Amino acid sequence: MTQPITVIAQPGLSSIPPLSDEMFILLREYIYDRTGIFFPEKKKYLLEGRLGKRIQFLRLDGYEEYLQLLKYGSKKEDEFDHLCEAVTINETFFYRNEPQFDVLEQVIIPELVAAKQSVGPPKLRIWSAACSTGEEPYTVALLYLEKLRHRFPALSVEIVGTDINASVLQTATKGSYGDYSVRNLAPQYLEKYFITGNGRFHLKDPVREMVTFQYHNLYDRGQMRMKRNFDIIMCRNVLIYFDMKSKIQVVAELYNNLNRGGYLLIGYSELLHGISSAFKIKSFAKTTAYKKE
Ligand SMILES: C[S@@+](CC[C@H](N)C(=O)[O-])C[C@H]1O[C@@H](n2cnc3c(N)ncnc32)[C@H](O)[C@@H]1O
Repeated sequence: MTQPITVIAQPGLSSIPPLSDEMFILLREYIYDRTGIFFPEKKKYLLEGRLGKRIQFLRLDGYEEYLQLLKYGSKKEDEFDHLCEAVTINETFFYRNEPQFDVLEQVIIPELVAAKQSVGPPKLRIWSAACSTGEEPYTVALLYLEKLRHRFPALSVEIVGTDINASVLQTATKGSYGDYSVRNLAPQYLEKYFITGNGRFHLKDPVREMVTFQYHNLYDRGQMRMKRNFDIIMCRNVLIYFDMKSKIQVVAELYNNLNRGGYLLIGYSELLHGISSAFKIKSFAKTTAYKKE
């Protein structure tokens, strides 16, 4: 029986041959080696569709030529950025997994402040690793402005948001969001911290200025070594895209990136079971946090 052949075509763009199993394996190896993101067989269609669009845009002959470009092209690092844009899932919103922010406010931050204030004015360094378009680190900024600064007047916070996708970081820096992103925010937050216009919600400068955004690849050991002395790391909803080996590597590095007494928060559907036993597990209502003791 003849198999149906999928040919990717868009109006005005040339069509390209389907992604062969051999090329799929070579492309996924390249992506995995550089990012830790692993595409299982059942996600082949996703890679085919996403890279197919890029290949058509570049008017290349197919996936093999694209891999050559990624490996040997004169602008291979620029193309790597486009690849990251194509293969990452960037879903996020303000106050995603709200109970984790409650635990930050009610337990983790008070505990860290108490430990630090015996030696001077407390300062917390908070890293939102894989922050996508910025809603996660900005939620921490809102938490500070709304709930913490009056309670701990001497407290200062440094908030860093990083991601492997340069394009989401541009959006994050602008701080301009649609309905989907702000759907969990109470109307008084929208009024107080955003300017509305053209159907969008623009963060006011004092909130935007609290967060610094940087490009960073969690799977790059050299880049990981540059990130030290954090009190809180949020690395949520990204480990799910890694395989066991890359999860183990990344979580071991995150452990080193934390100060003693610091906390790691991961996504709801993620677990460190079988990945790291270095952390002390702290269970709270509806959430778990991982402490470096
Ligand atoms: C689903 S979003 C999670 C956003 C946010 N942390 C949240 O939970 O709402 C996953 C993000 O991980 C980023 N990412 C994937 N692989 C990465 C890597 N190796 N290093 C840094 N960021 C990565 C993607 O670009 C994407 O923006």
